[in-house]
Amino acid sequence: MPETTKLIHVNDEKLEFHLTNQHVSYIFRVFEKSQQLEHLYFGKQIHHRKSFDFLIEREARSSINLNERDYTSSLEHIKQEFPGFGTTDFRYPAYELEYPEGDRISHLVYDSYTVHEGKPNLDGLPATYTETAEEAETLEVILKDRHSSLAISLFYTVFKGRAVITRSAKFYNAGEITMKLNHAMSLSIDFPDDDFEMIHLNGAWARENHIERQPLFKGVQSISSARGASSHMHNPFFALARPETTERLGEVYGFSLVYSGNHLGQVEVDTYNVTRATMGINPYQFQWKLRPKETFQTPEVVLVYSDKGINGMSQTYHDLYRNRLAREPWKNQTRPILINNWEATYFDFNEEKIVELAEKAKDAGVELFVLDDGWFGERNDDSSSLGNWTENTAKLPNGIEGLSEKIHALGLKFGLWFEPEMINKDTPLYKEHPEWVIHMPKKPMSYGRNQFVLDFSNPDVVNAIFDQMDAILTKGNIDYIKWDMNRYITEPFSTILAHDQQGELYHRYILGVYTLYEKLLDKYPDLLIESCAGGGGRFDPGLLYYAPQAWTSDDTDAVERLKIQYGTSLVYPLSSIGSHVSAVPNHQVGRTTSLDMRSAVAYFGTFGYELDVTELSELEMDQMKAQIDFFKENRRLIHEGTFYRLLSPFEENETAWMVVSKDKREALVGFYQVLAQPNPTYTRLKLAGLDQDTVYTIQPDGEERYGSDLNAIGLLFSENERQRGHFWSKNGKSDFHSWIVKLSAKD
Ligand code: DGJ
Repeated sequence: MPETTKLIHVNDEKLEFHLTNQHVSYIFRVFEKSQQLEHLYFGKQIHHRKSFDFLIEREARSSINLNERDYTSSLEHIKQEFPGFGTTDFRYPAYELEYPEGDRISHLVYDSYTVHEGKPNLDGLPATYTETAEEAETLEVILKDRHSSLAISLFYTVFKGRAVITRSAKFYNAGEITMKLNHAMSLSIDFPDDDFEMIHLNGAWARENHIERQPLFKGVQSISSARGASSHMHNPFFALARPETTERLGEVYGFSLVYSGNHLGQVEVDTYNVTRATMGINPYQFQWKLRPKETFQTPEVVLVYSDKGINGMSQTYHDLYRNRLAREPWKNQTRPILINNWEATYFDFNEEKIVELAEKAKDAGVELFVLDDGWFGERNDDSSSLGNWTENTAKLPNGIEGLSEKIHALGLKFGLWFEPEMINKDTPLYKEHPEWVIHMPKKPMSYGRNQFVLDFSNPDVVNAIFDQMDAILTKGNIDYIKWDMNRYITEPFSTILAHDQQGELYHRYILGVYTLYEKLLDKYPDLLIESCAGGGGRFDPGLLYYAPQAWTSDDTDAVERLKIQYGTSLVYPLSSIGSHVSAVPNHQVGRTTSLDMRSAVAYFGTFGYELDVTELSELEMDQMKAQIDFFKENRRLIHEGTFYRLLSPFEENETAWMVVSKDKREALVGFYQVLAQPNPTYTRLKLAGLDQDTVYTIQPDGEERYGSDLNAIGLLFSENERQRGHFWSKNGKSDFHSWIVKLSAKD
């Protein structure tokens, strides 16, 4: 590659590495005194130069140093790339190895490097990818152990034109002695100061991905999961933002882990104000036996830098995850508008009812019918039949095959719910293989939704579930799967793992989940999979690699969804955010909102319905048809456009967001007011991302305005309009109100 377009520059003499494009620079070097890697800089792009010596910081300190009479060789005071344990750095390490003698002191030092074109795949793990070798360069730096045959390859990818660096690590045991990995993070990075606030997505079932933001304090702060899944509680994401950073302005660093299991995102501020960020598999409850000639690959962390605020960070994630994490054939394909029967019927349905729902939905323009939980075994409530993936013929006398034919004959695609990782005790599978459940035979099992978790660390289990699903998929001609997961792992013990390998269970479990996804997609490449875990319990980049959309939350209330979808959009593109219009009063919070408000929120996601359409009035059916027509007209814009968050539901009574097409010819604005206001102030909503010189026609009013004034001054949402011209009227628009505004370039 010519020097000017090179993404990775190496100063071979000084062993300095500079990964860069027009957005970012990432610089580190080999520390000559110890041959360990010293971090120098990550942030906004800076000019390349032969040497970055000026970034080296050395203060003589009374610390513990590597060398005698040398007061500047303490690793504690040197910013590092992949710190080990046991010498002169007392902060949390990126990895910890246990040697046969029992010590954990590591001396892994620089050995060599290679620059690869493009981006190598990660063994057995989902990851971002390139489609052509020119899109990225990957630096592999090999560290070797001075005291064993262990090596670590650190992978750094820099993409052309993206403010992204990805990192992962691969451990390789080249020797004859088995080693134990107690701690294997994907990344560690030391920032020179602590002037940051930590942003993360916190939640629980039915209130996922609420945004939290706190200033860093000296000491350790973290987000994590030890539940066997990425979890409702902490999405595997955090960001470090400057205190003054807003949605549109200022610096922020994003950390997003492409992984669906136990994770840790940790920030440690030391007493010299250095901020160490680490991320990867949660070391708590983790241990891996690395036998001779075996490798251990960590998941990938996607680092994003933005100097255009939090929204800038999100846009970088959206573009990358939509185009280079989600895969063909669905990544850019129009997603079908679906109807799901869950909130319409729960377990109480039969073929007749399902066909009736499907017919009515088809009339309204729906494209995919999804049959949710309860179609198999003897499942009439949540206490039975998971793991027995054969039709419940009492409900479906013609089986899945017969129902599928009827649904397809209506011109709809047909989708089916599975919860592949779970089992109930009343199934033939459990009776035959009680040892396939994660549990410790000598200890009691805990109950979660009356079900238990299958041991997906066991390939036989994965194969057995694949066979059952395969049989249904083949005969049912299934177009879509909703893959649910409603129980975290307790009593973590696998009957197939040796006593000193039980620490591998959580990770092996997730590898088993990925294997099943891979097997299904290998055999059914056109299958569209939507992941789900009691709503957003496993909404993470790992699963987006296989399932390009995810059910965001079991909470379908339009007001609650403002926060949930707004928070989710920090990392995830709208094309991945499962969003449905459901019935009122809402089944999770009892709130009644208009059909307009419900659709106006659900438009900013994959869009579908989850209610009994046979109970809708004629007027409501007309509304539903109009909504579907509207979404069909605008879905490419919504799913492929650039998303801007405008007003935050975490701060205001109003929420607003918008999407602008890549060519800036079209835009769609969603503006939502939770509680009605008496005698209100004038509300102007400043828009974003529009072309300054283009005149846009604004619907529904037909007004014409320049992008420049819409960006600078904004749209006026008139209370008079809301009150229909009366300041004293009970006919006002009341609480839970929404406006959808479409902008189209005039010519
Ligand atoms: C939890 C999911 O999030 C719901 O949408 C639904 O599929 C139920 N499980 C079914 O049991």
